[in-house]
Amino acid sequence: MKSSEIRSRFLKFFQKREHAIIESASLVTTDEKGTTNATLFNTAGMQPLIPFLLGKIHPHGTRLVDSQKCLRTVDIDDIGDKTHATFFEMLGNWSLGDYFKKEAIKWSYEFLTSKDEGLGLDPNRLYVTVFKGDENAKKDEESRDIWKSVGVPEHRIYFKDAASNWWPAVKKDDTWTGPTGPCSEMFYDITEEGLGDLSPLEFEKNDNEQKVVEIWNDVFMEFEKKEGKIVGKLEKKNVDTGAGLERLCAVLQKVDNIFDTDLLSSLMEISNTLSTNISSQRIISDHMRSATFLISDGVIPSNTDRGYILRRLIRRAIFNTKDKRLDNETIKNFVNTIVEKYKDTYKNLLENKNKIEEELIKESEKFKKTLLNGLKEFEKIVGNNSSKEITALEAITLSISHGFPIDMILDLAKERDMKVDIKGFEEEFKKHQELSRKGAEKKFKGGLADENDEMVLRYHTATHLLHQALTHVLGKNVQQKGSNITRERLRFDFSYEMKMTEEEKKKVEEIINRKIKEKLPVNKIIMPIKEAEKTGAKHFFGEKYGDEVSIYFVGKDMESAYSKEFCGGPHVGNTSDLEGPEGKWVFKIKKEEAVAQGIRRIKAVLE
Ligand code: SER
Repeated sequence: MKSSEIRSRFLKFFQKREHAIIESASLVTTDEKGTTNATLFNTAGMQPLIPFLLGKIHPHGTRLVDSQKCLRTVDIDDIGDKTHATFFEMLGNWSLGDYFKKEAIKWSYEFLTSKDEGLGLDPNRLYVTVFKGDENAKKDEESRDIWKSVGVPEHRIYFKDAASNWWPAVKKDDTWTGPTGPCSEMFYDITEEGLGDLSPLEFEKNDNEQKVVEIWNDVFMEFEKKEGKIVGKLEKKNVDTGAGLERLCAVLQKVDNIFDTDLLSSLMEISNTLSTNISSQRIISDHMRSATFLISDGVIPSNTDRGYILRRLIRRAIFNTKDKRLDNETIKNFVNTIVEKYKDTYKNLLENKNKIEEELIKESEKFKKTLLNGLKEFEKIVGNNSSKEITALEAITLSISHGFPIDMILDLAKERDMKVDIKGFEEEFKKHQELSRKGAEKKFKGGLADENDEMVLRYHTATHLLHQALTHVLGKNVQQKGSNITRERLRFDFSYEMKMTEEEKKKVEEIINRKIKEKLPVNKIIMPIKEAEKTGAKHFFGEKYGDEVSIYFVGKDMESAYSKEFCGGPHVGNTSDLEGPEGKWVFKIKKEEAVAQGIRRIKAVLE
């Protein structure tokens, strides 16, 4: 049975049982706080429905059915095996304070086994688990009895603890906030010979060996959790069911991995021509599909949050091709194949087809440059490094100043039989992120030396922006000749032969004010002078610098930074600080004059 048939049978089955078919929500979560547990994407079918599971009235009633797009990147490193995917679809039927265990179990069973209306799976290959009980909820004998009544023999019903039969799964340091409850899962025997009856121990063993696979989960949502602790019962009891479409396809199409199902096999045909390595082929197929869906939902590649994840997916797909590139035709081929496959279910794919192609092509062009530089840098580092280990500083330099994702550094190191000081890298990276975060949150206030009050910091950062904007507008000959900052204004001397026109001054102001509006983080990175010189950061030629220098750059990373300069700092954490406490100030050039032959002076203020 094809994926489209499974999906439509599911929707119809529940529609007939008075469920309203609702469209999938976007992959992008709308509420970043509280209810969605601050995830960037919908990672389960229930996520967009959380407010309704918590009691809000749904416009389509109390019985819903859908096929929800989901994206999970937690196990991105596992992509390449038989079962993991970043993008997947979850089929779900929902009771919002309507039916409960009896109907949910009965319908799950009917849909799985009915030949006419459902999937026609063999009941003799089915096993189920139910919750064994703990201090939060009692042993779920009720579900066991319902399973028995629909025809599952008692010895194929296993009682399991909260680690497997509670949703979301109870784990150490649980922070789940939202609806929750015990669940009952269905498993299917996918072996050729058929396993027959299994004792609880045998079942466990076959589950671990993936000879029986989970195909469906019925969650009986009765409780509410805050920060991982049960705080009480929900107003109404709900049912949240979830069946992964990729899994169901693999089972019904009798293939041992999701990439051979009709959902992904046509993508694998393209990927086959791009790499000989099966794991790389799967990574390319998976990531291109996720990227396509993400762009259709409005995400574009960038260096932050969702855009960053999208960028990583695209770059990783490209990195896994044998030539480390994707040409435009191949990109279009992927997009076309995906759009054709899914266009009837997810309407915005076709609507956004051009945009998807454009963004993918743009990103692949960008990556081409980064990759070339990055590979050169990598070779240099590896060439100079006889220790068989890439140090944290080297990895940081590659990652932050050359936009080279760490997983690619790891891959390249592996190819050369080298290790990476990943722990050191992570520590450094955390520090770096902390700095950006502080910037973003405008918390860069305390702990400053007395002579460096907020105003001086603002003018210092404004000076860097001015330096870059002048180069931008007047040309590369602009060189800093002097700078003086007080709490009242900045003063900047630079080499230039002519008086600036009104238009040029306006342009410089506009650029700076735009950079302020863009709320760019101001970052500092320390690196060996040799590396630093190669970053293109502004510095004084002929000046003596130490073995290590610090560079301040304005932007998320060095690659995309608007301004970068050798500088001891300090600066504000984010350009938005330049707008002042009430967010009203703008950058203004007050005076532009000659101070010597070929040297101009600008006085500017934030007001
Ligand atoms: N929320 C449950 C799951 O993701 C059932 O939909 O497995």
